[in-house]
Amino acid sequence: MAEAASTAELGSEESLTKDERHRRVEAIFIRHPRIREVEDRMEKFRMWSKEAQEPYCLLVLGPSGVGKSTLIADYRARHPRTVTADRTIVPVLTATIPVPATMKTMATELLGALGDPAAEKGTLHQKTWRLFRLLKSCAVELIILDEFQHFIDRDSDKVLRSVADWLKVLIDTARIPVVLTGLHYSRAVLDSNEQLHRRFGTHEALEPFRWDAGGHDSFRRFLGHLDQLLPFPERSGLAGDDMAPRLFAASQGLIASVMKVVRKAAHVAIEANAPCLSLDFLARSYADGILPGGEGAPNPFTTSWSGQLAFERVATMPPRAVGPRLRGTGRTDPVTLTS
Ligand SMILES: Nc1ncnc2c1ncn2[C@@H]1O[C@H](COP(=O)(O)OP(=O)(O)O)[C@@H](O)[C@H]1O
Ligand SMILES: [Mg+2]
Repeated sequence: MAEAASTAELGSEESLTKDERHRRVEAIFIRHPRIREVEDRMEKFRMWSKEAQEPYCLLVLGPSGVGKSTLIADYRARHPRTVTADRTIVPVLTATIPVPATMKTMATELLGALGDPAAEKGTLHQKTWRLFRLLKSCAVELIILDEFQHFIDRDSDKVLRSVADWLKVLIDTARIPVVLTGLHYSRAVLDSNEQLHRRFGTHEALEPFRWDAGGHDSFRRFLGHLDQLLPFPERSGLAGDDMAPRLFAASQGLIASVMKVVRKAAHVAIEANAPCLSLDFLARSYADGILPGGEGAPNPFTTSWSGQLAFERVATMPPRAVGPRLRGTGRTDPVTLTS
């Protein structure tokens, strides 16, 4: 169980109230190997940057639903704020890049994340100055900015250059490393800004699980941990030969889709006092809300689902795109299922 981590501990399901079990279902978090690798890298860059000539910055790319924001929340939770007599220490500052992303909205967002009660107040110059001061007094060691694609204007498909330049100045002046996370197409921001590009030379990708080339072993390990963390007296066999292909067919390897179908099924099973999840609960959960890419597909949790045969068809489908279509360009943020 070394790979899994969760707020939920095992073994006492029977003594939990239903409310507690529902809460546990929502709190399930699996620190799978890719998450650990990316978090390890963030940790190294935070440490190395303390003495570095230039901060070590990182770009983390991946399609919607692979767990980027969840990873950020986990990393932040492992580096909590501490309140001293005269100030608050914020080792890891996280913020979501606002829409529209301007120098002013960025400064406001970061000031707000640092706890400035007057985050909205002042000119751009005053806000930026306050931000530098606060970053220093809060001893911020790493800034993580989510939704990097917001640096591209959705209507015009243009990179917002002034805010990209502002970020570069922030990194250089504050000398604090920045981690950017976003959809794959946000890489275009770096392609159009040479100086920012140079600072974000290191990339990590978070991708959906695969079924080909041994990839389903990681998927099954993920399902095994998930099964362990579900608050039921019995295991549901999610990683087994029958369930795993069905869960892959339902989710196409995307954590968000696995968690959506499993969480909803678990809530219903808890209410029904069931000892674990069964195909029936999963079939109803799947039918209850269409997952991305699932339109018109047969329900993989029905007993009539022709198992491996139908699954192979799903697993060998050409790469599918689930990301937002960039208006007017025909470009999408692709999710590759097979190499
Ligand atoms: N490691 C994980 N363990 C359990 N659930 C996860 C994990 N990563 C993501 N999820 C779930 O998947 C959904 C989407 O995750 P999110 O972090 O928002 O993805 P992204 O930011 O890449 O779009 C959320 O419901 C989240 O709870
Ligand atoms: Mg996200």
